[in-house]
This record gives sequence, C-alpha cells and structure tokens, in this order.
Amino acid sequence: MAEENTKQESTRIPRHVAIIMDGNGRWAKEHGLPRLGGHRVGTENLRPVIEIMAEHGVEYLTLYAFSTENWSRPLSEVKGLFRILGQVIDRQSRAMHEKGVRICHLGILEGLDAKLQGKVKQALELTKNNKRITVCIAFNYGGRAEILDAVRRIVKEGVPSGSINEEAFRRYLYSPDMPDPDLIIRTGGEMRISNFLLWQSAYSEYFSVPTYWPDFGREDIEKALAAFSQRQRRFGGLGPEETRRKDAAGHPAKRAVSP
Ligand code: FPP
Repeated sequence: MAEENTKQESTRIPRHVAIIMDGNGRWAKEHGLPRLGGHRVGTENLRPVIEIMAEHGVEYLTLYAFSTENWSRPLSEVKGLFRILGQVIDRQSRAMHEKGVRICHLGILEGLDAKLQGKVKQALELTKNNKRITVCIAFNYGGRAEILDAVRRIVKEGVPSGSINEEAFRRYLYSPDMPDPDLIIRTGGEMRISNFLLWQSAYSEYFSVPTYWPDFGREDIEKALAAFSQRQRRFGGLGPEETRRKDAAGHPAKRAVSP
C-alpha cells in the first residue's frame, strides 16, 4: 500500500478524471453511419476506458453522457440515447460489478422513464460496495442546474446565510462526497466546458484531444495522464519553485492573514 502511494506520488496520477465524450456524431459521419450508430459504437468504448483508468490507479471517473442541453437534439436522437443507456446498464452492469466498479449517477433521474430509473437504481445498488474504481455517469446533468438545485434546497431549508461557505454549499451538490476532478479530458478537439461540473472544476486541469470518443484509447489516455503529471497545480497560490525563489531572494513567503 505504501509502495502504491509512493508510485502515485511520483507519477502523479489524478484521483478523479472526468471526460466529455464528444465526437460520436462526427465519427458516425466519417463512417457513413447515422448519429445513433456513433453513440452505439461509443458505448463499446466505455469498458476499455474504465479498465485502463482503473489500471492506472484512477479512483473516480466521471463520464458526461447526456446534458440538460442535449434535450434540444432531435427527439429520435434523444430517445435513442435513452435506449442506449438502458442497454448499457442491461449488458454491462454485471461485468462492471465483477470488475470491482462502483457505478454512480450524476444528474436528475426524476422525470425520466420509470423503467430506466429502475435500471439505474438497480445498477447503483448492485455495485454500491465495490472499491476498485467509482464510475459516475453524468446523465441528464447540467452544471448550472446542479448549482440552482443546490440554491433551491438551501433556501427551502431556511439555511442562515452566515453559515453558507464553500464546504456547506458542497453538501447540496448532487454528489457531495465525490472529490473534485483533477483532470478533465474532452475528446473531439473542442475547447469548451459545456456546462460540465461547473462548481467542481474550479481548479481542474484540462486536456483536449482531437480523437473522437469511439477511437479514444490507451495512447490518448496515457498522453493525458502524462500531461497531467507535468502540470504544476497552484490552486491560486504560488508554485513551490516561485516560493523557493522568493525565499532565496530574501522575500519571505506570504503567510495566511485575515482579510
Ligand atoms: C457527444 O457527441 C456525445 C454524446 C451526446 C453522448 C455520449 C454518449 C455515449 C458515449 C454513449 C452513451 C453512454 C452512456 C453511458 C449512455 P456528439 O453527438 O456531440 O458528437 P459530435 O460533436 O461529433 O456531433
């Protein structure tokens, strides 16, 4: 265990990776398939990606599968994505369970088809004690909706304004115990956050890769992880080097002071 921690420290594996799985439509077009064909092929990539992340020691993987804005797509595509989610659960949750995957859901289940809700809840129940990796499917998820839902609940509960700080606010998010993503990867080459994990991504590192989601594999994952381990995360402060340089120049590093 200690050896594992040292390894994680020296290669700096992100504890939580989140992925915006983009490019299914373009992949389908390039392969002469309808858009839903791209989404279907995209689902076949879930298992290998989860496995590679788990092999590298990633503890949490969040996958953006359907945003609150995706409702504006043609009804046939929306219905198809819902059908695909149901099929993924039917076909893959037992195998995920056997691989030690804990499945979680991020977003709003209420209002979705009752059968689909039942399937999601069953998969969560089946895998709830697994420890190898937690895979959170963001489905019917929107970052702004999540923040607004939190505010509504805070107001409804009559929480005094003086007691709301970042930690208190976090308790009202959809998955309060999930650590913030260290690394957010977007496939398909765009450079947008698209309403994904707005609160939680305040200090995440970003990595955009041109590969479309269905082709995203080991090589890209390892590139993203390598890029992450080169990044110097400062969380708004100074990096260790700047701090040292300032010290050597005789300027003491700033101490925490009250505002
Ligand atoms: C974005 O590609 C992708 C989605 C809206 C859906 C992602 C879904 C999957 C990978 C499969 C389903 C997974 C689960 C867990 C149900 P796009 O359609 O925007 O592609 P484009 O930018 O090339 O048009």
